[in-house]
Amino acid sequence: MTARIDMGLDSGGNPVAVDLEELLATRLLVQGNSGSGKSHLLRRLLEGSAGYVQQVVVDPEGDFVSLSEAFGHIAVDAAEYSLTELARLALRVREHRASVVLNLEGLEIDGQMRAAAAFLSALFDAPREHWYPVLTVVDEAQLFAPAAAGEVTEEARRTSLAAMTNLMCRGRKRGLAGVIATQRLAKLAKNVAAEASNFLMGRTFLDIDMARAADLLGMDRRQADTIRDLARGEFLALGPAITRRPISVRIGAVQTGSKAVSPKLTPLPTAPTQDMRDMLFA
Ligand SMILES: Nc1ncnc2c1ncn2[C@@H]1O[C@H](COP(=O)(O)OP(=O)(O)OP(=O)(O)O)[C@@H](O)[C@H]1O
Ligand SMILES: [Mg+2]
Repeated sequence: MTARIDMGLDSGGNPVAVDLEELLATRLLVQGNSGSGKSHLLRRLLEGSAGYVQQVVVDPEGDFVSLSEAFGHIAVDAAEYSLTELARLALRVREHRASVVLNLEGLEIDGQMRAAAAFLSALFDAPREHWYPVLTVVDEAQLFAPAAAGEVTEEARRTSLAAMTNLMCRGRKRGLAGVIATQRLAKLAKNVAAEASNFLMGRTFLDIDMARAADLLGMDRRQADTIRDLARGEFLALGPAITRRPISVRIGAVQTGSKAVSPKLTPLPTAPTQDMRDMLFA
């Protein structure tokens, strides 16, 4: 079975598709600054492929829970379960081939890392007879595979990084196809980023991220400068599942809603300073 997932249009107005079977074998990395349209892009890919392949979404912001209404994904609120329960759940997800959204919204960062690690590791450790293909999407992947030690505990960082490394480096034989998105390439562990063969690069401002992006795309810095000029929802695509030469793609519309809305200016309150002071110190 071949399935081509329509992602949007290139600069000439021609459709750009992702070859789903090829994607399962070659993984995908999406990068772009906040607001560049990464989550929208992931949603477009998830919606387009929901009828073809099992999906697991690691969702730090509870953004993808809306897939459950339209596509029947089971939303799992990670804050309600212990790590042991999450691991057991993940084994059943593989056994029954259920599509799920692991909603990490209610947890602190340490808890998010531990929950994602427990869930992903159990998916990875599932018995061989359950190694069906699973599109495994991790949004904000730099949270789970940080390049450097941060404020989180060393133990949380280690287990989470190990689970992400397994997903991206050794997951393919077990049916796990990693699709990861990050705001900052420089903040994502190099070994995790390097295992993706497909890239969708969105708007990027910082030199250090541009340099990493150029590196991954095999472009010189001058060519890579175009990444700075990309509009919201526009990505530079490259990789065996999409295109052999870099092309720009404008991501098309999505069916399900996101909680993310761009800030809109709203008229300021008109209360006089004294009233405002009274309200604040009441
Ligand atoms: N291709 C597109 N077409 C129409 N609207 C889009 C497109 N891409 C993004 N948007 C809108 O732009 C806003 C930001 O997009 P999105 O939430 O996907 O950004 P992001 O890269 O995931 O940002 P963050 O890193 O902060 O999560 C959203 O309101 C989204 O609906
Ligand atoms: Mg996002």
